[in-house]
Amino acid sequence: MRMRKKKHSAERIARCSGLLIQDPTACFGAEETIFGGRRPLLLEIGCGKGDFCVELSRRSPDSGIIAVERIPDVAMFALEKATAAEGRPDNLRFIIGNAEYLCDWFAPGTFRRIYLNFSDPWPKKGYFKRRLTSPAYLERYGTLLEPGGELFFKTDNEPLFDWSLEQFGAAGLETLYVTRDLHSSDLCAGNIETEYERRFAADGKPIFAAGVRFPAKTETGSEAADGDR
Ligand SMILES: C[S@@+](CC[C@H](N)C(=O)[O-])C[C@H]1O[C@@H](n2cnc3c(N)ncnc32)[C@H](O)[C@@H]1O
Repeated sequence: MRMRKKKHSAERIARCSGLLIQDPTACFGAEETIFGGRRPLLLEIGCGKGDFCVELSRRSPDSGIIAVERIPDVAMFALEKATAAEGRPDNLRFIIGNAEYLCDWFAPGTFRRIYLNFSDPWPKKGYFKRRLTSPAYLERYGTLLEPGGELFFKTDNEPLFDWSLEQFGAAGLETLYVTRDLHSSDLCAGNIETEYERRFAADGKPIFAAGVRFPAKTETGSEAADGDR
């Protein structure tokens, strides 16, 4: 997402500081304190201007939601949207930072579900490690998610989608759903549209979506029996 530098962004972000986690490394091992023990915890990576996470927080009042965005001037809009939202959500917090460092911020097994919405495609081959569905990121998600935790992914980019499905398969993830036209499918019920999604759908582009489940692991790394979940 490219945009002109915004004026007074530091002041505007500071005005929303109640919803911002200033030092995400302080979360590690103290996750219970973020939302007063509220569970499950859900994570959106690359939240952009916040349409999705603000609506998710409204629809999931019993969950705690963390939204990560690496560009401060973009995160500023998300923070302002959440701050202005009716009832100002008490189950939503933002981190301005790069998702690469998530494992330094949160202990293993913190999240029930991770959402990736219209992640940057990084089409050049040499940049594939930056894609949020690359093997290195999937390994991080495997650490951050609870046993049997889920990853929900939406994109307009078919090559990225196909490549991501390959990575999910190679990582041994269980497919929960796959659609190449979310808006025409039954899966659309309950869908929360993002800013990018609205734009692509208005241009008549199909929306690709997939949900996968990470293995339920025991401490020793072997598959857990059903009763252990
Ligand atoms: C194409 S935009 C989509 C925004 C929003 N999810 C939507 O669907 O409207 C992708 C966003 O992900 C953010 N992003 C990309 N890589 C990231 C990373 N490694 N850590 C945090 N945010 C990231 C970008 O800054 C950008 O705002």
